[in-house]
Amino acid sequence: MAASLTLDGIVAGYGGGDVLRGVSFEVPEGAITCVVGPNGAGKSTLMRVLSGLLKPRKGTVTLNGEKLAGKSPRQILDRGVVQVPQDHSLFGDMTVAENLDLGGYILRDRDLIRGRMERVYGMFPEVRQWAGRKAGSLSGGQQRLAEFARALMLDPAVILLDEPSMGLSPRTAATVFGAVRQMSAGGATILLVEQNARAGLKLADRGVVLENGVVRLAGTGREILQHPEIGELYLGGAAKGVAATENRQVR
Ligand SMILES: Nc1ncnc2c1ncn2[C@@H]1O[C@H](COP(=O)(O)OP(=O)(O)OP(=O)(O)O)[C@@H](O)[C@H]1O
Ligand SMILES: [Mg+2]
Repeated sequence: MAASLTLDGIVAGYGGGDVLRGVSFEVPEGAITCVVGPNGAGKSTLMRVLSGLLKPRKGTVTLNGEKLAGKSPRQILDRGVVQVPQDHSLFGDMTVAENLDLGGYILRDRDLIRGRMERVYGMFPEVRQWAGRKAGSLSGGQQRLAEFARALMLDPAVILLDEPSMGLSPRTAATVFGAVRQMSAGGATILLVEQNARAGLKLADRGVVLENGVVRLAGTGREILQHPEIGELYLGGAAKGVAATENRQVR
């Protein structure tokens, strides 16, 4: 079951002043939305607010109309919002299968967990091959896929991905983006943060540019890619090339 998120006027920080200074945007149901922005813009802070790890000082987050802001991480998880954090988060000394098992621990029902694991392996067959390996022995890209698989154990309505391509070679990043597309095709609503702005926005239906704790621009992924100023700031000024290519495809 997919779901939509609405962020309205989110103000949040860590005590040393506000990092998010009134953030509002929509994460539409079933779509991929990508947040881009410079280092320190508040992207990870935003993810922490959505997963309940950080309580906003002001503003609301609603999931299909139900208020989330102020709920505990567990309550938010129970509503089907699952985060894959920026730093690698598998238990390195445990096997991939054990990590997946833990991903489903709130389900309690062993048969359900087993069934989910089969479904996840069906979606990412390579993860099944690593099932018996210690998670810490996997490459960065393999760990990302295993982290996605673990998140899918809860059959999430919304998946929050914080910089999934970070530290990966372009080729491995492309595999990870393919996996994001697969999770989207599986019906989940996806909110993605990416430093790799061009790749993230190409993948996304919707794009949001976060700058200094506020939304500078929101639109379709293509609109953001083609925006002249954004192109120069984040995309190395090459957005025109992308636009030209896409125009050719349209004709
Ligand atoms: N736990 C924390 N305690 C105090 N300040 C923090 C904490 N985490 C982040 N900050 C500060 O909040 C601001 C925004 O950080 P955040 O991690 O949200 O940015 P970001 O957009 O995710 O950046 P990056 O692209 O580097 O991941 C920064 O100034 C950072 O120093
Ligand atoms: Mg971050």
